[in-house]
Amino acid sequence: MNPNEGFVFPKRGSKSKNRSLLAAMTNKQSHEDGTLSNEEITWLTRRAKDGFGIVTTAASHVSQLGKGWIGEMGVWSDNHIEGLTKLASSLKQHGSLNLVQIFHGGMKAPFEINNVIPVCPSKMMNESTGKLLARDLKTDEIHQLIEDFSDAAKRCEDAGFDGIEVHGAHSYLISQFLGLKTNRRKDEFGGSIENRFRFLREIILSIRKKTSDGFLVAVRISPKISTIGITLEDSIEVTKMLCEMDIDMFHLSCWDAFEELEGGQNLTKLFKPYVPENIAYASTGAIWSTADAKWLMDQGADFAGVARVAIAHPNWPQGLSEAEYSPKRPPFTRDELAAAELSPVFIDYMTMWKGFVED
Ligand SMILES: Cc1cc2nc3c(=O)[nH]c(=O)nc-3n(C[C@H](O)[C@H](O)[C@H](O)COP(=O)(O)O)c2cc1C
Repeated sequence: MNPNEGFVFPKRGSKSKNRSLLAAMTNKQSHEDGTLSNEEITWLTRRAKDGFGIVTTAASHVSQLGKGWIGEMGVWSDNHIEGLTKLASSLKQHGSLNLVQIFHGGMKAPFEINNVIPVCPSKMMNESTGKLLARDLKTDEIHQLIEDFSDAAKRCEDAGFDGIEVHGAHSYLISQFLGLKTNRRKDEFGGSIENRFRFLREIILSIRKKTSDGFLVAVRISPKISTIGITLEDSIEVTKMLCEMDIDMFHLSCWDAFEELEGGQNLTKLFKPYVPENIAYASTGAIWSTADAKWLMDQGADFAGVARVAIAHPNWPQGLSEAEYSPKRPPFTRDELAAAELSPVFIDYMTMWKGFVED
């Protein structure tokens, strides 16, 4: 498989110039109200300019109270459209396909940030302290959240984005619906995996209703998260149900695509049979070199997703034309990261990622 080849999304006809995908990366550069900063636009535009086929924004919250951390990008209000439009037109000049990642923190949208008790499909307590971590969602609130997701997608389309990525991974609200430990509901949103999938299903259906035919809908999930009760078996069922829907890309968040599962299997290959030809398959996690990207595609991925390597090496997609390309690994100096157009705020944030920034 050749990562430099173009890809046409079968259902929409939109074309990616190559198989490199910049995965969503939170970077804390947005303003307090969720509007975009020039720093955020600069960092993403550099990756579009330097050759990424698909550029995904940081996770951005669809409801005001779904905010998970300071400096998070927002898509919950029409006030965000102006900044989104500026970003979309800046990216578009460089020919990438551009997606906004949309999410809600659920129980990971802390009281300290939003001043309200976080929500979750089911009530969550800290077992040892007895402290209330999250209250359970009422049915009408669930329906409102579904609308919040699709309203956010519509804003992204109005701003000129090619599509959105629904963030169903990493233990945020959609994952909390999928997980057995965070979703113990007895209604139509809980119980069987079909019911736990219902929230995500309704979100996709609602997005399709509010956006036009050409709009790309990608969905990202985690294959397993033991802390909230997401198993590989359930995720395979979710993948099958997702791929029967009108989506354009299935994105598996592996963290380590090289992890060896029982029987010598890997995650990308395990999920491949459930993703039909008319849906693009992206996989992400620990890809660094051309050899890694080729290996990932040999496992069945159409797109090689990367995050950390693209922070230091914005022109990573260009490197893929050399078989031996394997760029420098962390730690990086602050100067190296500034040269890659990270603002001081983003560089400070990266010091929290162990070993990434030189002391
Ligand atoms: C700084 C940073 C921020 C991230 N933020 C997000 C995010 O907002 N949404 C998301 O789905 N994943 C996020 N991730 C996970 C990445 O998209 C990716 O899946 C992960 O880093 C593994 O890929 P890598 O080994 O190429 O870095 C983040 C990763 C990093 C390093």
